Amino acid sequence: MDVLAIDGGSPVRPAGRPLPAVTEPTGRTLGAEEEAAVLRVLRSGMLSGVWGSEVPALTTEFAQLVGARHAVACTSGTAALHLAVAVVDPDPGDEIIVPPISDMGTVAPVIAQNAVPVFADVEPGTGNLDPSSVAALIGPRTRAVIAVHLFGKPAAVEELRAITDRAGITLIEDCAQAYLARVRPHDPDGPLVGTVGQLGCFSLQQYKHITTGDGGLVTTDDPELARRMRRFADKGWPRESGERAYLSFALNYRMTELVAAVAREQLRKLPGVVARRRACAADATKRLAGLDGLTLPPDDGDHVYWYYPLLVDGLSRSGMARYAAALTAEGVPSVAGYLSRPLYAEPVLREARTYGSSGFPLRGRATYPDGLCPVAEDLLYRRLVVVPWNENYTAADVDDIVAAIAKVHAEVMPS
Ligand SMILES: Cc1ncc(COP(=O)(O)O)c(C=O)c1O
Repeated sequence: MDVLAIDGGSPVRPAGRPLPAVTEPTGRTLGAEEEAAVLRVLRSGMLSGVWGSEVPALTTEFAQLVGARHAVACTSGTAALHLAVAVVDPDPGDEIIVPPISDMGTVAPVIAQNAVPVFADVEPGTGNLDPSSVAALIGPRTRAVIAVHLFGKPAAVEELRAITDRAGITLIEDCAQAYLARVRPHDPDGPLVGTVGQLGCFSLQQYKHITTGDGGLVTTDDPELARRMRRFADKGWPRESGERAYLSFALNYRMTELVAAVAREQLRKLPGVVARRRACAADATKRLAGLDGLTLPPDDGDHVYWYYPLLVDGLSRSGMARYAAALTAEGVPSVAGYLSRPLYAEPVLREARTYGSSGFPLRGRATYPDGLCPVAEDLLYRRLVVVPWNENYTAADVDDIVAAIAKVHAEVMPS
């Protein structure tokens, strides 16, 4: 067996030839089109989306691409989720069901609106919300469910929508990692993520399929929700009335014209980005299939591969860390578990570090013990290794990734 690079062997991918990465020009699709877009806005003299033309054009184009009636632009994915939660308009102490595996941007807006995050467990094969766990947690104070499409694999949002409709509550989709993913297996004409729930939230942060550094978008079919979100992103100001008034509590989450102009160019490239990520992943999955103890990303024609998550059997926490470190040493920078811990175990929630010393709205209303979501903990602590994915991978890059995974896996699971 080849000696692993982590143990002093030679790496599959030498250090001087890094894979394309989202933090470098090699792993982004930023080019002459974005440059021209920035100049176009600068030369117009109008950088504000309140009076400019780029933000309205972006929201029209994005809504069309996703298949929603309306889109609202804002400053980040977290802001997008905040707009969504704000228009659900929970009373203080109401509950919103969330998954334990995501970025904190999924959950922080719940606390910002004085609601209590309630964590449902996830499906073992995907890390996405388990609808039966969600159904069991819905109670008289539940106002919404936020479903994350983790790593680019759609959550069971049609099933979740049936559950939330029965309960008379709102389904919010967090699509930050899943642009243009189709929610129905093997149905190329089925709905896209962001159109099944009443609200769909997207991020333009640096690591996403497309980027403006930071930025966010929300889709909805409901003109009233769209109007209220626009107002929440604009200090409660009803611009359409022409009056300077502040009608309700709100913040400033307005996207600028520079961001919108870059986003419009990125949007044109998005279908190609998704297609190339899917093609590289299909190649890798075909060649890695059959390795004992390794589960590859389940793809029913619907995965858009923000990351390429591996599930490995029989690992301890330190074994999972070594697996990821070994892949990284082979030149494929990988992360053990994706998160250090489930979101509910983070100090902000567990120690209710919120508003002053009050602990509001969590203290006395929610506890977040270890073991709260056992399936999520098993994934994060013992099974999950995430491999970064990129639309700019060449066939040779995929060769190296496949070789590195096979090499590391052979050490962990000798046949
Ligand atoms: C699933 C998910 N939700 C929300 C966010 C928050 O987005 P942002 O970083 O743009 O605020 C991210 C990413 O950062 C994410 O991956």
